[in-house]
Amino acid sequence: MLKDEYAYLLCLVLRNLDIWTETYNIGFYLHYLSRWLDLCCVQEAPRGRMMGYVIGKAEGQAVEWHGHVTAITVAAEYRRLSLAWRMMNLLELVSNDIYRGFFVDLFVRCNKLVAIEMYEGMGYSLYRRV
Ligand SMILES: CC(C)(COP(=O)(O)OP(=O)(O)OC[C@H]1O[C@@H](n2cnc3c(N)ncnc32)[C@H](O)[C@@H]1OP(=O)(O)O)[C@@H](O)C(=O)NCCC(=O)NCCS
Repeated sequence: MLKDEYAYLLCLVLRNLDIWTETYNIGFYLHYLSRWLDLCCVQEAPRGRMMGYVIGKAEGQAVEWHGHVTAITVAAEYRRLSLAWRMMNLLELVSNDIYRGFFVDLFVRCNKLVAIEMYEGMGYSLYRRV
């Protein structure tokens, strides 16, 4: 593994100190970085401070082949600057143009009202409740 990838991984884990951000084990992040690096993106401030990240994957069979947003988060001090909007746009672009996915989906907890409002504003609609 390259040094930069270690740093990247560490940043992901540190950022997950935010209670609203889904947290996974190290193996989970390594799997994403090795399989779908182009669906993972970080936004850094000029001095290298991490502002936010998105991690995603491509999955499904035949007409169900699609991009999936696994986690997206923006540090509290950088919110409402359209960072999440830009990262979602990038993930959608890569999902469409590189992976040829037919759609993009995601799960969001019912109590994450800000995130739900954001996704709806981006054109996402409720498919099912589990
Ligand atoms: C949800 C989250 C990623 C949004 O990040 P962000 O960079 O602030 O979002 P953006 O600035 O790109 O906002 C995009 C749109 O989302 C909506 N939105 C974002 N934050 C909002 C808030 N606090 N209240 C209401 N709407 C909000 C708005 O419609 C906004 O568009 P606008 O600024 O033109 O009105 C961020 O609040 C976050 O990291 N939350 C904790 C982790 C989380 O819940 N992740 C989602 C898990 S599924």
